[in-house]
Amino acid sequence: MTYQLPYRPRRLRSSSAIRALVEECQLTASDFVLPVFVTEETSPSEISSMPGVFRWPAVGIEEKVREWRQMGIRAFALFPKIDPQKKDGSGSEILNPDSLVYRTAAAINRLNLDIVLIADLALDPYTTHGQDGVLLPDGVVDNDQTVEILANASMVCAGAGFDMVAPSDMMDGRVGIIRKTLDENSFQHTGIISYSAKFASSYYGPFRSAIKSSSAEGGVDKRTYQLNPSNLKEAKRELWLDFQEGADMLMVKPAEPYLDLIYYAHTNINLPIAAYQVSGEYSRIMAADQLGWLDWKKCALESLVCIKRAGANLIFSYFADRIVSELD
Ligand code: PBG
Repeated sequence: MTYQLPYRPRRLRSSSAIRALVEECQLTASDFVLPVFVTEETSPSEISSMPGVFRWPAVGIEEKVREWRQMGIRAFALFPKIDPQKKDGSGSEILNPDSLVYRTAAAINRLNLDIVLIADLALDPYTTHGQDGVLLPDGVVDNDQTVEILANASMVCAGAGFDMVAPSDMMDGRVGIIRKTLDENSFQHTGIISYSAKFASSYYGPFRSAIKSSSAEGGVDKRTYQLNPSNLKEAKRELWLDFQEGADMLMVKPAEPYLDLIYYAHTNINLPIAAYQVSGEYSRIMAADQLGWLDWKKCALESLVCIKRAGANLIFSYFADRIVSELD
């Protein structure tokens, strides 16, 4: 029995050669930013809720970065796990130029590896309460006081050799104030990759245990500044505000649950769009793999290519170091 079908789309899927010929989107090593956790401790420790991801001792991290660079990864975002004794209510350790993350950046920078070093700019690794800002007496995060600290911290980042700062706090107006502060202090070349549309997501849990930023019972509630996952219009507005305030790149975070917004940003805004495949997106795949329910490598590749297809120009991913060797 043979039908006279006018269309047989399966012709384009009939061999691996033709599938390769018509493939619309490919991942490459230069798409990735690898998030790297650094610690004062002297040996690497695996993060229990993120199998395969480690906190790396700052001392000696140069070797590791060289290795990643050789694999083809050319962008890194550093996240410090701060000693609890150095934390306080206003996260003042973020302004200490000798603090862990600045020393690490300076050491990596001395290698001259032709890479992009990105500083995550937020107070939560440094505050005792784990919020991304300074608290008013009623417990609400004070926007403008927090922005002032972040703007000052952006200069410390630039001075330490970070190429870009990535404000991940969701305070109002911070991109404009950070840009102005950098420019007025001769850091015109330091870029801003803004976490513009960062949602109040439950997928950040493993990250918060990785840097031990969530001391509160039941986790830290960030809904007075991070976006409501239901709100697409509000998220678009945040993207445009950061565009107007002078960000060099805009980010959507998390990634896979928010492909509609990535697609919108890619289609409408003439800036590179980053997507952050966050800790929980990583962990859910790894956990299912450990249960024998999913194949982590195939799921990671699928998730990442879909994030790219939706319109991400660069992807922050904890899979980056293990996925680049799978790409051709
Ligand atoms: C800090 C920050 C967070 C993440 C990146 N920067 C956590 C948060 O906002 O609570 C999450 C990253 C991840 O889950 O992988 N502001």
